Amino acid sequence: PDGVVVQNMSFKAGQTLTVKGVPSIDSTNFAINVGNSSEDLALHINPRFDAHGDQQAVVCNSFQGGNWCQEHREGGFPFKQGEDFKIQITFNSEEFRIILPDGSEIHFPNRTGGKKYKYMHFEGEARIYSIEIK
Ligand code: GAL
Repeated sequence: PDGVVVQNMSFKAGQTLTVKGVPSIDSTNFAINVGNSSEDLALHINPRFDAHGDQQAVVCNSFQGGNWCQEHREGGFPFKQGEDFKIQITFNSEEFRIILPDGSEIHFPNRTGGKKYKYMHFEGEARIYSIEIK
């Protein structure tokens, strides 16, 4: 896939992944994917400024067996084109907890119940400048 791909980096239950970046000033959307491979995504977080028929919405989903699963929409839209963001992600076998730039949270089910993911992919119209797992 296009974008930034991180492979063979372990992200374990209980750890926190912090992603910092900046959407381009004309960004339509960008996404953060976490899973085992490009074909097996436990978590897709897709802030949409204006994309796929949505304006100012954060859409989450998983991608399993070659298909997108049930979309999950929650919370507000604390992103601005051209403005730095920080997103933090942590998970357990039940759910992902996503902390948005304004401190609000999205809870998305960990549908496969994995305790460790090794694949991360950052795509779309944002420049990612830091990725940290602690
Ligand atoms: C689709 C979009 C994908 C992904 C998915 C999430 O419409 O093309 O990139 O965001 O929605 O359900």
